Amino acid sequence: MLDHPQSAAAAAAPTNAAETGSAATGSTQDQRTVFDLALIQRYDQSGPRYTSYPTAVEFDPAFDADRYAEVCRASNAGGGPLSLYFHIPFCDTVCFYCACNKIATKDRTRAQPYLERVYKELELQSALFDNDRVVEQLHWGGGTPTFISHAQMRELMAQTRKHFKLADDDRGEFSIEIDPREANADTIALLREIGFNRMSLGVQDFDPKVQKAVNRIQSEEETMAVLQAARDQGFRSISIDLIYGLPHQTADSFMQTLERIIEVGPDRLSVFNYAHLPSRFMPQRRIAEPDLPPPEVKLEILQSTIERLTSAGWLYIGMDHFARPDDELALAQRDGTLYRNFQGYSTHADCDLIGIGVTSIGMVGNTYGQNRRELDEYYADIDAGRLPVFRGIELNRDDLIRRDVITRLICHFRLDFGDVERRWDIRFGDYFATSLSKLDGMVKDGLLEIDAGGIRVLPKGRLLIRNICMAFDAYMEAKQGKVGFSKVI
Ligand SMILES: C[S@@+](CC[C@H](N)C(=O)[O-])C[C@H]1O[C@@H](n2cnc3c(N)ncnc32)[C@H](O)[C@@H]1O
Ligand code: SF4
Repeated sequence: MLDHPQSAAAAAAPTNAAETGSAATGSTQDQRTVFDLALIQRYDQSGPRYTSYPTAVEFDPAFDADRYAEVCRASNAGGGPLSLYFHIPFCDTVCFYCACNKIATKDRTRAQPYLERVYKELELQSALFDNDRVVEQLHWGGGTPTFISHAQMRELMAQTRKHFKLADDDRGEFSIEIDPREANADTIALLREIGFNRMSLGVQDFDPKVQKAVNRIQSEEETMAVLQAARDQGFRSISIDLIYGLPHQTADSFMQTLERIIEVGPDRLSVFNYAHLPSRFMPQRRIAEPDLPPPEVKLEILQSTIERLTSAGWLYIGMDHFARPDDELALAQRDGTLYRNFQGYSTHADCDLIGIGVTSIGMVGNTYGQNRRELDEYYADIDAGRLPVFRGIELNRDDLIRRDVITRLICHFRLDFGDVERRWDIRFGDYFATSLSKLDGMVKDGLLEIDAGGIRVLPKGRLLIRNICMAFDAYMEAKQGKVGFSKVI
């Protein structure tokens, strides 16, 4: 799980680019993305990634473990499927760029005491939810989930099945983040056997000079071996993570990595913009700032990435993510069912999300709740038989309406005012008069169009979707300048 990740690289499909219909309801969505350097430079500012709304900055200790338990019990009235997120924080070595919640250690014996607490947490959490609620989505994130041994992986999944009812392989979306340096063909076979059917592979960049500068030495062979093993084992979806903006990268060097990735053809691709926030992430201080590509080179990399992926037939889903046109995410975007949560884009909008492990965030009913962020505090709560939730937020009606609007925009690049008015019993123009006025400049700049029916984000606006969403964020003004969000591009 990325603690404070960064904005999007993007590309889009050369497909069905007809521009017909009203702003919101045009039956054919223009899925192109246009890279406009002047606009991108002008709009480049800090902003949230909206994996939640309100963002974690608004979480408050007033939402505690007792309230969390009440909310979970109450959620059973509506029932519905569940999603489980497990955080495995350990990494064998630290990558200097890393903005994830991780603990670097060579001491593998630290895994077992951690897992013992996770098992206890599973027991505490499962007691809050009705037994017949099916887990349709499960994710192991990190840190490095495969830091733990094969026997521990088996046991973690067995404990999960002991406490929760997991959907079958067809319906369930069971995914894991894999560092190819920490997995081999046996690991992949085991993961498939215990139920995983999706994975994302951390690659970042194949260039040895870049790898050395970020302390992540990972051969292309290691990566390809894991990818091949995943295919052999029948993993349904394989995604690859790249980062642009790392030390020594140039447009040419990054294109070499991208070519290799395009050749092997994963189903999805994340191209993260390197979020350099050394005051917040200590290991980033070990990156020599003069080695970082200057903004114009980063933009050149972004542009080349967009053009190359577009010409290779990839679709820009939004916020760093690309998919092949026949991938589930692309299909969900086309039929209007795409959703966004802490794991990025998803097709499971109706799940209550339970976060398990240190730092994990859950989303149950109309709330977000976060587990303790320090390992010793997490252990202390579990050992005392307490749920480790220490802060969160209950969304008020205004938060819910704004979250709905932001989610629609960030997932579908369009918004039908009528849909929002019917769902929330508001008059869009009145309720969002201030937000709409904030969009005036963006309309003039050709980022989006607004008519009586709704909003449509135009090809030039897709890369700047965060800026558009920020106009609907009630907390934005208070946040700006204070929190250290990453740059939009
Ligand atoms: C938890 S890590 C992936 C799992 C595994 N530990 C690995 O490294 O392969 C999730 C992803 O976040 C991305 N990431 C980490 N730090 C980042 C940063 N500062 N800026 C942008 N992306 C970052 C990387 O692409 C990484 O693969
Ligand atoms: S392996 Fe590297 S990128 Fe992955 S979580 Fe650990 S430090 Fe971060």
